[in-house]
Amino acid sequence: MDKLQDTRDDLRDALDAKDGAKAATLSRDIAQLLHEDEPLWQTEKFEEVRRINQATIQLAERIQSQSSAGEIQGALESYTALQKSCASCHDRHPEQQLP
Ligand code: HEC
Repeated sequence: MDKLQDTRDDLRDALDAKDGAKAATLSRDIAQLLHEDEPLWQTEKFEEVRRINQATIQLAERIQSQSSAGEIQGALESYTALQKSCASCHDRHPEQQLP
């Protein structure tokens, strides 16, 4: 997840620099990294966590399309929502229930 953090920080920098192309690449990487964790959340007890993961992936994908379209302001708003979505999973501490 450290890679996820670094990528999210780089994404924030790219959006601040209004570099839509770079932001699109970075948000695609975030969606990919979250997607790679998906198998962890396949059991019933993680239903809510899986839902949060999917919502977070969707936000990363929204940032990707907004950034590609040059909608930097919209992408920044989605970025705020993305941060909340990362935190909403962490607040549940699903790692304590992993086998
Ligand atoms: C579906 C749940 C979920 C989502 C969504 C999620 N995380 Fe995590 N994250 C975890 C879990 C579980 C841990 C604890 C992992 C561990 O300690 O083994 C964690 C730990 C971390 C850590 C601590 C360092 C580490 O490697 O353990 C960082 C940093 C982090 N996440 C960043 C992010 C960022 C940035 C996002 C959003 C782009 C995000 N996470 C979204 C579940 C999630």
